[in-house]
Amino acid sequence: MDAPYFKAISEAAAELNGEAYAIGGFVRDLILNRPVKDIDFVMVGNGPELARLSAQKLGVQQVTIFKNFGTAMYRFKNTELEFVGARKESYLRGSRKPVVESGTLQNDQDRRDFTINTMAISLNAPNYGELADPFNGLADLKEKIIRTPLDPDITYSDDPLRMMRAIRFATQLGFFIEEKSYHAISRNKNRIKIVSGERIMEEIQKMVLSETPSVGFKLLFNTGLLAIIFPELCKLHGVELRNGKGHKDNFYHTLQVLDNICQNTDNLWLRWAAILHDIAKPRTKRFHPVNGWTFHGHEDMGARMVPGIFRDLKLPQDGKMKYVQKLVRLHLRPIALTKEEVTDSACRRLLFEAGEEIDDLLILCRADITSKNEAKVKRYLERFDRVEEKLKQVEEKDQLRNWQPPISGEDIMKAFDIKPSRAVGTLKDAIKDAILDGKIPNRKKAAYAFMIAHGREMGLTPVS
Ligand code: CTP
Repeated sequence: MDAPYFKAISEAAAELNGEAYAIGGFVRDLILNRPVKDIDFVMVGNGPELARLSAQKLGVQQVTIFKNFGTAMYRFKNTELEFVGARKESYLRGSRKPVVESGTLQNDQDRRDFTINTMAISLNAPNYGELADPFNGLADLKEKIIRTPLDPDITYSDDPLRMMRAIRFATQLGFFIEEKSYHAISRNKNRIKIVSGERIMEEIQKMVLSETPSVGFKLLFNTGLLAIIFPELCKLHGVELRNGKGHKDNFYHTLQVLDNICQNTDNLWLRWAAILHDIAKPRTKRFHPVNGWTFHGHEDMGARMVPGIFRDLKLPQDGKMKYVQKLVRLHLRPIALTKEEVTDSACRRLLFEAGEEIDDLLILCRADITSKNEAKVKRYLERFDRVEEKLKQVEEKDQLRNWQPPISGEDIMKAFDIKPSRAVGTLKDAIKDAILDGKIPNRKKAAYAFMIAHGREMGLTPVS
């Protein structure tokens, strides 16, 4: 609270005959000792005017005013400061756009989402630094409770995004959603449909980036929100029995994998690969009287489902999607290597196919080893250590991670004086297979000789 802008804003508010407060997430995070990102100030009076005058005092040139919203902002060093006039709001059903009138500090606090987000710190001379906390947000912060200041049906119905925020805060902060609020979320779940997919995804991403995202996904599932916003994940839930034989509940398994992976990576997209690795299990599930439940091909079908899921969830359609797709497609491969005597050739193939993503793939596979039986998990992980060691050795020897075939399509066309055709592709694949299977070394000379011999077998005549 000793940053220069607090004093400048305090003086500006007095000159404008208004009252200024720092409010909301900043106050919450200050008390929780979390890092401060941006700060919201509320002015009983004109918010943009407070922005302008305080900026002037600080020598800040650029102030952005959002006329339509009656808000303003500027940056001071690395902090974003936002200003708004205190307001009373009511919402129209079917829209998240409020009808705004100016109001008192208390009016402004009433219309906020959670008691822990309603607290304000006075910047006014008579009680500078004092906490204005009409809803006992401080007590809720200590008790780790997410509670709405008004009747939760009103708060959530006013802005249904708050249902997502409640669950996100519960996940991020390790808080509990108060009982009445929890039931109100279940009751109002269908109102989430008026919120844009992008805003919903922002909240989901914050959950995914938290320490234990399963908390959020379980809350989304239990309140019924998940079935609306991410139905494909819900389909993983449940256990079917045939001849008394069940399978794992793939929903809880997936959440376990997600929590596991979060201990080893902060990479958002690797976390998404964990969420989606088994997504095609419901579609590929079969029961065989002898073998029991199988999910054959779920990795390939899962990879094919990734673009559609990314589109529906408003996730990017770029390289990040391709990355997740690749990890989903390959997620069984390292595990398969633990089941057999690991050959160099199998390692080379995996290294070649995974390329740059091999380390992330191994992180995913380790996370995928879940069982209630700890001894079993330990045994699998030990076997996995051996596979990893072997992969390392093969990689050191053959360097396949960024492997480019030593013979290009151009080389093949030149060598046999042929035009682009299927034969070129076939020959290229044959060279690649010969190298990966260890039949020839990963060298240009050996590959060239192999190409000539194999081309001849295919009926091609090399240019002499
Ligand atoms: N707020 C609200 N309803 C919303 C969004 C925000 O009442 N749907 C209020 C809350 O008082 C919140 C403040 O506006 O504290 C600022 O919102 P925002 O910056 O979006 O969130 P923070 O609470 O600061 O938290 P975070 O930065 O983690 O999103």
